[in-house]
Amino acid sequence: MTSSMESGVESTRTLGDSSNTTEPSVPRVSQELMDVLSTLQQTFVVSDATRQDCPIMYANAWFFSMTGYSAKEVIGRNCRFLQEPDTDKAKLAKISEDVKTGKSHCGRLLNYKKDVTSFWNLLTITPIKDDSGKDAS
Ligand SMILES: Cc1cc2nc3c(=O)[nH]c(=O)nc-3n(C[C@H](O)[C@H](O)[C@H](O)COP(=O)(O)O)c2cc1C
Repeated sequence: MTSSMESGVESTRTLGDSSNTTEPSVPRVSQELMDVLSTLQQTFVVSDATRQDCPIMYANAWFFSMTGYSAKEVIGRNCRFLQEPDTDKAKLAKISEDVKTGKSHCGRLLNYKKDVTSFWNLLTITPIKDDSGKDAS
């Protein structure tokens, strides 16, 4: 699953990945995608949608720079730590449904950096297929 978010000149790309439910390592299909995406001036994370609460498994330097969070504060957590109580609940319900059903999602969501500065997250979440065409997340 791939997602992206943008705010002014800042942008974030997030990858959700879940082809492997037992190994902590990132599956090859996602590693290849990350290699490509890491060359772009965008931020992204890899999360595992097959694990409970879709934890982030990887985030690149741009993500930490943009949000102000460290790897220790991000890895293993669901992306909802970027939200605050005023983040639109109806939009979150739609994201939740789309993630559960493996659908792509695109929308604008109010998110917050660690310093509680708000930004509009132009978020796109897309399932990633593995080499056999099976959903990887
Ligand atoms: C790959 C992926 C990336 C996501 N990125 C964000 C994000 O950047 N900001 C955010 O607020 N939610 C993001 N989400 C959505 C949350 O993880 C979660 O699905 C959402 O809060 C709805 O679920 P909940 O009602 O259980 O919180 C992302 C989800 C996935 C699967």
